[in-house]
Amino acid sequence: MNSDNKSDIDESKHNRKVLVLFAHPAQTRSEVNVPLFADAQAIEHVTAVDLYAEYPDFNIDIEREQQQLVDHDIIIFLYPLYWYSTPSILKEWQDLVLEYGFAYGHEGTALKGKQFLCAISAGGKEEAYQTDGFNHFTIRQLLQPLEQMASITHMTYLAPFALFGSRTAQEEHRISDHRRKWTTLLNKLVKGELNMEKAMNIENLADLCTQSGE
Ligand SMILES: Cc1cc2nc3c(=O)[nH]c(=O)nc-3n(C[C@H](O)[C@H](O)[C@H](O)COP(=O)(O)O)c2cc1C
Repeated sequence: MNSDNKSDIDESKHNRKVLVLFAHPAQTRSEVNVPLFADAQAIEHVTAVDLYAEYPDFNIDIEREQQQLVDHDIIIFLYPLYWYSTPSILKEWQDLVLEYGFAYGHEGTALKGKQFLCAISAGGKEEAYQTDGFNHFTIRQLLQPLEQMASITHMTYLAPFALFGSRTAQEEHRISDHRRKWTTLLNKLVKGELNMEKAMNIENLADLCTQSGE
């Protein structure tokens, strides 16, 4: 084996595999999530799946989805916040794929040790997502069912990567900055360079992906 081959092998040992499960039912009108999905598709070691394109009839292939989970180290749900929750296909995906005996329960340890996070866009402004704000709850509070889903499936839950005020983000020229942070996040996850303690405890992962690093 020459030294070039060796360095390839050493490098691949350190790369994590990231699975991005994208859910958006109205993509022709999307200004935020479709570009983020395209960015994810372009990054090595990231598998980006468009759930509505894969399963237009919601006929989810459970075995295939479970295998895909097993094959990756980090699982990301990418979606616009709809009624303080996920678009419906992601709920269907959870209901069918995260089976007893696979993801939880007796011998259900297939996801143990993986990392999980949500990458979301919200139409509401950041100040609306406060306990004393318009929406009464912070985004982390609203995502608690997903946090507990990660917990019961033995995954490490990371803070959400969130863009607020998403419907005015384009006219306010905030999308390219958010896309840069997203690319930074995905690359850090692949290389295992994210500060895990901060990533678990911060309110918004986007704040960890600024140009200065942290
Ligand atoms: C059916 C529906 C429900 C929505 N519910 C919420 C919501 O609960 N909270 C919120 O902040 N924005 C809500 N929005 C706004 C979306 O989050 C916003 O349109 C999306 O983040 C924009 O991303 P996109 O450009 O990729 O479509 C909702 C939009 C739709 C169409």
